[in-house]
Amino acid sequence: MPPMTISPIAPAGQAVRPLEASVDRDSPNRNLTPLSTSLDGEDRLQVGGCDLGDLARRYGTPLYVLDEDTLRASCRAYHEALAAHYPGPSLALYASKANSSLVLSALVASEGLGLDAVSAGELLTALQGGMPPERIVLHGNNKSDEELSLAVTHGVTVVVDNDHDLERLAELAPAAGRVVPLMLRFTPGIECHTHEYIRTGHLDSKFGFDPDQLEPVLRRLAGSAWARLTGLHAHIGSQIFELQPHRDLAGVMADALALARSLGHPVTDLNVGGGLGIRYVASDDPPTIQEWVKGVAQAVMQACRQRNLELPRLLCEPGRSLVATAGLTVYTIGSRKQIPGLRTYLSVDGGMSDNPRPITYQSSYTAVLAERPTAVATETVTVAGKHCESGDVLLRDLALPASASGDLLVVFATGAYNASMASNYNRIPRPAAVLVQGGQSELVQRRERPDELLLHDVLPERFRPVA
Ligand code: LLP
Repeated sequence: MPPMTISPIAPAGQAVRPLEASVDRDSPNRNLTPLSTSLDGEDRLQVGGCDLGDLARRYGTPLYVLDEDTLRASCRAYHEALAAHYPGPSLALYASKANSSLVLSALVASEGLGLDAVSAGELLTALQGGMPPERIVLHGNNKSDEELSLAVTHGVTVVVDNDHDLERLAELAPAAGRVVPLMLRFTPGIECHTHEYIRTGHLDSKFGFDPDQLEPVLRRLAGSAWARLTGLHAHIGSQIFELQPHRDLAGVMADALALARSLGHPVTDLNVGGGLGIRYVASDDPPTIQEWVKGVAQAVMQACRQRNLELPRLLCEPGRSLVATAGLTVYTIGSRKQIPGLRTYLSVDGGMSDNPRPITYQSSYTAVLAERPTAVATETVTVAGKHCESGDVLLRDLALPASASGDLLVVFATGAYNASMASNYNRIPRPAAVLVQGGQSELVQRRERPDELLLHDVLPERFRPVA
């Protein structure tokens, strides 16, 4: 494989175009790097006006870095595209499973978005981050009483996934003296091309009611005084580059909307889920946020027109496309193993515990050296993590300039499904996260310490070492 060269980058202080990607402020899901990426006078990488080397020295590595400009631009892209392409009311809800934290809850709330939570933890994070409860929905295919009660108490909309939800709510809501706003989730039976694990719209899915169950459930709910059915929900999958499955979804959902309204439910909300993909490597070619929203909005309008339905409020639940490209991870390169004629491994100080996506979904990423992002590549390496697992590889066949132990490697587009899926495998502490903007960095998640990982262990008395 010939060494890959990185295309020329703009002068210091200006937005850069590493890796041949253009900088699209209106659709950050198509950028490989955060919007505020630039070079300093010595061609070192900066994000949000902060030198990545300085951040690594100050906060340590591995380090998650989140660019506030990109986060806000993504939120605004959804907001503005919905306003431009959909004549009815609309709201984008941030799917916080992509990356749940107080600061992200607060930031998306400040941009006027709502939020999708799937656990008591995500719900508490949203509420404590200042997200208004009326803009939150609670998902989950096996919600606990604790989770349902938290939602009921705060007036959060519950997305009902199955009979179990209805049975538990029928007990919990009257006991709390509440009428619960509900959405009904169903599997729309739509296939799309994405990894099998992250496809949810096909019929063999653990999520939501089967379409055949919809009518009996709607009939039953019509007589439930504790319930107020406000919406219908479906989600077809994640990291999707096609628009057609989302267009098809609109028709299926409009049929369900017509049915619900005909049975007396004043359903106002149609929640089409998330799923828009992002660019992880230069060859990825997702639609822009505008194209996605426009496609979805037009399909919903057309489906409603054909069925003579009053336009619902259009809700969507983007996760990845809101936060992925805002994030990057800085690692320190450590050991090198050269297997002549076969492969060169560069090992970094993190791996599958801070980014489980490559080992789980065979996902690809783009990476450069923080201090020499524009240098010509001279070797092809495999970037391995530090975990006791041969499959712990973050990037395969990465073209890099010469590097040495101590150099910093930057992996782009790690803002979604990295921190939120991080583990403590091998008892490795989870990284810190910083938010950068205008030359300032703020710690938004403290790095775990090894001793903290012992806090939940309990050693029975009889095993205690004798003094
Ligand atoms: N709404 C629902 C009900 C979902 O289940 C999901 C994602 C979303 C919205 C947001 O989808 P997005 O816009 O992020 O595609 N861990 C996997 C992704 C799992 C997605 C799960 N559900 C990954 O790292 O690729």
